[in-house]
Amino acid sequence: MDIGIDRLGFYVPQKYIDLVELANERDVDPNKFTIGIGQSKQAVPDLYQDAVTMALESADQVVNEDNREDIGLVIVGTESSVDESKASATYLVDLLDLPEDVRAFEIKEACYGATAGLQMAYNFVAMNPDKKALVVASDIARYGINTPGEVTQGAGSVAMLISKDPHILKLDNKSVYMTRNVGDFWRPVFSKTAFARGKYSNEVYVDFFKTLWEKFQTKYDMTVQDFDTMLFHIPYTKMGLKALRTLDGNIPDAKYKELEEHYQSSIEISRNVGNLYTGSLYLGLISYLINGDVKPNEHLMLFSYGSGAVGEIYSAEIKSDYKKYLDIEYIKKELNDRKKISISDYEDIFEKEVENGDVTAISDVHDKFYLSEIKENERLYKKLE
Ligand code: CAA
Repeated sequence: MDIGIDRLGFYVPQKYIDLVELANERDVDPNKFTIGIGQSKQAVPDLYQDAVTMALESADQVVNEDNREDIGLVIVGTESSVDESKASATYLVDLLDLPEDVRAFEIKEACYGATAGLQMAYNFVAMNPDKKALVVASDIARYGINTPGEVTQGAGSVAMLISKDPHILKLDNKSVYMTRNVGDFWRPVFSKTAFARGKYSNEVYVDFFKTLWEKFQTKYDMTVQDFDTMLFHIPYTKMGLKALRTLDGNIPDAKYKELEEHYQSSIEISRNVGNLYTGSLYLGLISYLINGDVKPNEHLMLFSYGSGAVGEIYSAEIKSDYKKYLDIEYIKKELNDRKKISISDYEDIFEKEVENGDVTAISDVHDKFYLSEIKENERLYKKLE
């Protein structure tokens, strides 16, 4: 039985900053941000948005009357959780009118969370072929104003509907994974911003890729020639390139050139959105599906990495008629219709938060789902009708 991604949704906040403007404001050479880091624009979530509202937005694009009643599992992968106890997936069941006979929970392992969810969803559908699973990656990447990590912030979510006979991506059930207790990135419960040993994180990421790629080739007796495209976890677009470059000189030049071209197609959206944390790999997939020169039934290798650290490489096949099932025009419009804000407006939004009991804090809502109020320390969400 074929199992994989049947539908994909993507949500990006409507405000963004230009990273050349940020560089000028921070007295940094803009080429460092646009070339050295590889980012051009950065999404800025509004005050009424968080991991829950963004998860709702992308999931709303894939849930419809035809599949709602078949969904038996809802997993949200996030490292920007709004509650230490209650799972954001419970809000999705409510506001998307999903059936009650569903398992709903949240997964955390930095940027690996969505991949953990996807693999669980695969197993769930294998055991329950008539059911579907909703896996959503949703995050706000925050390092802080005027920190080295500021240029690698971002926000957004990706929703994936997993089913049998998928129309977008068939998972091959071939994967290798590994875990090491590594201190490259963390966010203690008291902090709204992450702590990272940025350069060390790069080293661990590249080492995980090299180790897993060797394991994958040995386990399945496959080589780079068995793949048309390699997709990477891309918190910023230079990072995936560091992993890809380990192949340069070790594989035929023509193959490397092909992989590098495909990589460029996979980073186009991330370059203009920023870090989605656990959604980053899947935003790379969406970008490649939209911008790549995709061959029928093309074979992909996907490298997922979550600091802390867990990594996984798995393979998949793109379904030849995927364009009928991915709303490419909607995603392009979503990206094009965004509004640039000034660096000082971004700093204002960054510093503000909704206080418990302040019913006047939320205004000017221009998204479908929003945080309406925090009452008795409970976050309450609404849908604009
Ligand atoms: N023109 C062109 N390029 C320039 C330049 C210029 N004027 N000036 C500098 N550069 C280049 C540098 O040569 C360097 O390139 P390489 O990486 O190829 O060597 C690049 O720009 C960055 O320069 P620096 O290393 O000097 O920059 P920095 O000290 O400011 O740090 C960073 C960069 C480490 C990425 C920092 O932004 C950071 O710490 N970001 C957060 C790190 C992070 O997110 N890590 C986690 C990723 S893994 C993950 O996603 C975590 C998870 O699971 C949640």
